[in-house]
Amino acid sequence: MAKAKRLVVLVSGSGTNLQALLDAVADAGTEGYGAEIVAVGADREGIEGLARAERAGLPTFVCKVKDYDTREEWDAALAGATAAYEPDLVVSAGFMKIVGKEFLARFGGRFVNTHPALLPSFPGAHGVRDALAYGARVTGCTVHFVDDGVDTGPIIAQGVVEVRDEDDESALHERIKEVERRLLVDVVGRLARNGYRIEGRKVVIQ
Ligand code: GRF
Repeated sequence: MAKAKRLVVLVSGSGTNLQALLDAVADAGTEGYGAEIVAVGADREGIEGLARAERAGLPTFVCKVKDYDTREEWDAALAGATAAYEPDLVVSAGFMKIVGKEFLARFGGRFVNTHPALLPSFPGAHGVRDALAYGARVTGCTVHFVDDGVDTGPIIAQGVVEVRDEDDESALHERIKEVERRLLVDVVGRLARNGYRIEGRKVVIQ
């Protein structure tokens, strides 16, 4: 059997997507799932996402933008801290920062993000709020590779969630996250186990 892939997961918040990945690896075993999480990185301290990693006994690192003189220096530091764990795949699971050139030079084509809307609709930091404000009747989540735009990279998989009349941002986001966690676990496992290629905008999982 192929060697399990090494994952670094980046978080900024509650880390429920990270937890879903941790649970999937624990349930299936590293070999069964095809991947193991080797470290968790964040752009801020004191978040539940880091606490989840620590409870799982994983190494963590934090790179805060304000600790660097320039955004480029922060990006290089994040790239270096991530590279130290020699990941095969990097997963942005609610990581609320746009990475820069250096990070993409090292991890482009193997940097996966999850976004709480059906891209290319409603990119950016407020995908749930924007879909609701627009009056969309369905929204959902998108797992995609990261390129140098904001939520513009090749789409790997999407999940659909209906908008209810009584929804506010938080209720809708919670229902999206239920779908999102399952989708992310499924996609990352398949990428790791089967391998993939990116052909233009199409992602083909072998
Ligand atoms: C997810 O909906 C993600 O798409 C968005 O923020 C949420 C993160 O949730 N960018 P969590 O930290 O994994 O609980």
